[in-house]
Amino acid sequence: MKFIKVKTYEELSHKAALLIAAQMTVKPNSVLGLATGSTPVGTYKELIKMNQAGDIDFSTVTSVNLDEYVGLDGTNDQSYRYFMNDNLFDHVNIRKDHTFVPNGCAEDLKAEGEAYDAMIKELGGIDLQLLGIGLDGHIGFNEPDEFFTGATHEVVLDESTIEANARFFEKKEDVPTTAITMGMMSIMQAKKVLLVANGAKKKEIVEKSFFGPITPKVPASILQLHPDVTVIYAEE
Ligand code: F6R
Repeated sequence: MKFIKVKTYEELSHKAALLIAAQMTVKPNSVLGLATGSTPVGTYKELIKMNQAGDIDFSTVTSVNLDEYVGLDGTNDQSYRYFMNDNLFDHVNIRKDHTFVPNGCAEDLKAEGEAYDAMIKELGGIDLQLLGIGLDGHIGFNEPDEFFTGATHEVVLDESTIEANARFFEKKEDVPTTAITMGMMSIMQAKKVLLVANGAKKKEIVEKSFFGPITPKVPASILQLHPDVTVIYAEE
């Protein structure tokens, strides 16, 4: 594991964007696994700048996102599809039909999960997976549990996750209580993993995840078994 400690969020965003840009340069048809949440927003801003300056090209890139709230469709401004359009896809030359987010409105979420995993497999897997980390150690929406789940699946969100995400909604009651998330299989099969964590509040969970025991109670700890993980942690 490469552990890069930086001082500021700006440095984190810049370094993360450079690593993603490098991936796109060495493999123009990369499959990028992307995340939502507040942490990658700065990274996406940097990527937009690089794309608009002509330094990187998204036209042959495919993206697969980690997760989506159940019951929110892409027109809902709290959905992760909307977030990705707004924070990245609408501002770069990616083909929208090459961007994938699990469908949280699918009637059969189990079938949706299976189809999502099959699609990732068909694409040849993920070349680089960008991850944030929840205060409870979740990656994607893989919450602490008794076991690690491999497949893309429906999850009940932890109270702490609902509380943490309430800042994006008008009121806490509006936060969906379930989501569909990529499981550990597609994440762990990604060729490279890049995890970004920002601020003192994430220090403890980052330490637990990367320097503590590997346990499904701390979902991100599974990444200790991945052969190519880079963690960028900003202290401030
Ligand atoms: C988002 C996701 C989540 C977030 C995590 C951290 O797609 O999968 O695991 O990465 O909740 O969120 P922030 O960055 O808002 O602290």
